Amino acid sequence: MEKLIEIRNISFGYDNTPVLKNVDLDIFEEDYILVIGPNGGGKTTLLRLILGILEPWDGTITFRKDISERLGYVPQYSTFNKNFPITSLDMVLTGRISSGNFLRKYKKEDIEETEVILKKLNLYDKRNENINDLSGGQLQRVLIARALVSDPAVLFLDEPTASIDITSQTNLRDFLDELNKKMAIVVVTHDPTPFAQTYKHIACINKNIFFHDRGELDSHALEQVYGCPVELLGHGIPHTILKRH
Ligand SMILES: Nc1ncnc2c1ncn2[C@@H]1O[C@H](COP(=O)(O)OP(=O)(O)OP(=O)(O)O)[C@@H](O)[C@H]1O
Ligand SMILES: [Mg+2]
Repeated sequence: MEKLIEIRNISFGYDNTPVLKNVDLDIFEEDYILVIGPNGGGKTTLLRLILGILEPWDGTITFRKDISERLGYVPQYSTFNKNFPITSLDMVLTGRISSGNFLRKYKKEDIEETEVILKKLNLYDKRNENINDLSGGQLQRVLIARALVSDPAVLFLDEPTASIDITSQTNLRDFLDELNKKMAIVVVTHDPTPFAQTYKHIACINKNIFFHDRGELDSHALEQVYGCPVELLGHGIPHTILKRH
């Protein structure tokens, strides 16, 4: 399996406050990584560093040739500003803009490709609706569609199940499994349960990163990350935090 992204010894903080320290992470083709950790642990920050939205204080992020342009990003719903007057179709189309062609007009193939993805995600009949008229789950799918129209090699999703019901979670999980045949998937989540059958690795982040292969995670490792005891599910993944720090 080929390595797509190599992160070495990344440190970063806001103003003078450190958030991430000496983080290493490799992302391979066909990878399926769950990123877990407490609120404020630095998960979203790590994604923004990989996406080039933030610059690390220290360390390097190396991309396989041609990959840095092919990163799909589904932002954390709670931080997304939906009071933006734009239709679903236009929102998804913004995913066709890559660096270097901000001012260009959309081509016919941009619209065609966008419509294919809207149909696939069951959003085609919502294409002319304003995004602030969509339900949480529909908007979540619009954000996923927007990430997919750029034909990503790696898809990053930040808390994709936070605003959707169980049925939609199951649909999303099945959809991600299908996508994982063609691209690496990195899911930041507080609730690994929907992904328990399918993930390949878990990265626990609380300032530092702790990386585990499937099945390797035990309560001791989790206590290191969360700083408190964590109850484990049968699959060896964290479920609820028992005690507050
Ligand atoms: N733009 C910013 N300016 C200053 N501090 C920030 C900024 N964004 C995040 N932080 C701080 O950095 C730390 C890490 O935040 P981050 O959003 O990466 O955490 P997270 O692991 O994604 O948390 P959550 O699970 O709540 O989404 C937090 O202490 C947060 O307050
Ligand atoms: Mg976050």
